[in-house]
Amino acid sequence: MAQYEYTMGKDVDLKAEQARTLETPAMSANLLLRTMYLGMDLIYGFKRTLPKFKVIELLARYPYWAWENGAYNRLTRSYARTRGADKKGSDLAVRHIELGRKSQDNEQWHLMLIEDIMRQKGIRQGWIKACFLPRVMAFKYLVLTRLMYRLKPEWSFAMNARFESHAEHEYMRLVQEHPEWEDEPAESEYFQYYPRQATLADLFRRIGLDERDHMHESMEEYERLTGRSLASS
Ligand SMILES: [Fe+2]
Ligand SMILES: [Fe+2]
Repeated sequence: MAQYEYTMGKDVDLKAEQARTLETPAMSANLLLRTMYLGMDLIYGFKRTLPKFKVIELLARYPYWAWENGAYNRLTRSYARTRGADKKGSDLAVRHIELGRKSQDNEQWHLMLIEDIMRQKGIRQGWIKACFLPRVMAFKYLVLTRLMYRLKPEWSFAMNARFESHAEHEYMRLVQEHPEWEDEPAESEYFQYYPRQATLADLFRRIGLDERDHMHESMEEYERLTGRSLASS
């Protein structure tokens, strides 16, 4: 199995990692994701803006919730049958529950930080873009991610890796488009939950790197489940 390099909790050169992302092509998106990105572009505009990233973060939690919830359901089924549960199935469920929990929390902190920065910058949206459409998208993504994980978990890991690769590249490009953020201090009470970063540029680079870690975790789990590398499939 491929060995992936994880950066969370490590002291890394964020600028060098941003350059690395920008030199590496993003994974290709499948039809479902391409439709979703097009929908976001049509609603929130083709430019990279904080409201658009907020929606990405709102949706990003759902596959992880699906893994946690779906694995719990599988445990219920395997512990409520006459032939009983097996260790392999239990190990798999525990792994997906743990991965789902920690990544879901990480995405939630991204969401909280972005919302707070939007508030500080005075970015306001109307009811349709701030409430109605995100809720519709979240509901659709909830159903889709639960269904994929229930039918074939590897579909869910493959699609999530592609989604995270897109998010990683979008964050690094966002920072590139905002050189003024290099000197803008990042302040938020939500640093209570998330490693404090000195500037807005570093905060978004760190979030982008979290997305790369998420992509690697999904690729790794896909390989574990199928015995195939996602990159070559
Ligand atoms: Fe995120
Ligand atoms: Fe992510």
